[in-house]
Amino acid sequence: MPIIEVSKIRKTYGKTVAVDEVSFAVEEGEIFGLIGPNGAGKTTTMECVEGLRRPDRGTISVLSLDPIRDARALQQKVGVQLQQAQLQKRITVREAVDLWASLYPRPVDGDALLDRLGLSDKRRAWFMTLSGGQKQRLFIALALIHDPDVVLLDELTTGLDPQARRAIWDLVREIRARGKTVLLTTHLMEEAERLCDRVAIVERGRVIDIGTPAGLVRRHCPTQTVVLETTDAGAAAHFETIPGVESISWHDSRCTIRGTGGDLVTHVIQCLAEHRIRVTDFRTELPNLEDVFLTLTGHSIRE
Ligand SMILES: Nc1ncnc2c1ncn2[C@@H]1O[C@H](COP(=O)(O)OP(=O)(O)OP(=O)(O)O)[C@@H](O)[C@H]1O
Ligand SMILES: [Mg+2]
Repeated sequence: MPIIEVSKIRKTYGKTVAVDEVSFAVEEGEIFGLIGPNGAGKTTTMECVEGLRRPDRGTISVLSLDPIRDARALQQKVGVQLQQAQLQKRITVREAVDLWASLYPRPVDGDALLDRLGLSDKRRAWFMTLSGGQKQRLFIALALIHDPDVVLLDELTTGLDPQARRAIWDLVREIRARGKTVLLTTHLMEEAERLCDRVAIVERGRVIDIGTPAGLVRRHCPTQTVVLETTDAGAAAHFETIPGVESISWHDSRCTIRGTGGDLVTHVIQCLAEHRIRVTDFRTELPNLEDVFLTLTGHSIRE
């Protein structure tokens, strides 16, 4: 049984179709990402899973419960970080954590959590005095205070500096290591690639494809490229024999080898070693999720 099952949901705002026939399932212990550009429908989908919005059509189950009908039961088991949230200006970090902890029978240690999120020295600070990234981290702390089985994170690292971002990634991996299930949204392809076990690519309210980041790359962008520099006169003839090669082009001593099959880089290295070809530069250009997005939609995620 999947932990989260979304089946053919549709959600419109007036004439805007925000979510159109979206289906996906998140398995236990998985980090699953909804990725797509601004306005793709990620938050709307999340809000339906959170029980904050009722889809016009389709069904959702979370831990075999209905997000709207069973909202109370789910509150104890699900942690939610919203894309946009506010607290009173003059509540301190410590007070917010204590207040949230008081809502649950078995909260985790708030101090340890703040420490993990790099907020220890902000314990006595008012909410209004926190930076955007610090507020973001506080909301992640509040989402985790009751040690939920399912964690829903909408744009978890937006506005965070690279160091804080890495710390949050580690934290999310730790959550998974304890057997919890994570559904998150991001428009950062690097984040999806490094953090998610599987992703659903969403565009204009539709899921275009679902898979592991590496699997999606293999499926949609199988071409790999090796660029190297050599003045070895015999090299060209040897490169022709490399398995999986589709094209070879030369600019003076710079050679660009393109091919498919997933083992191109190994085969090139083997060829160089076997024929003792001397190279003065060597680099690979391997496709990533960004390229998948470009291939599937015809435009970059940032456009
Ligand atoms: N409350 C609302 N009322 C009307 N339209 C809305 C509302 N919320 C979202 N929309 C529209 O629905 C579509 C999907 O928005 P949504 O917030 O789900 O996208 P998103 O993928 O989360 O985008 P972002 O990456 O910017 O957070 C957009 O066209 C948006 O303008
Ligand atoms: Mg959003």
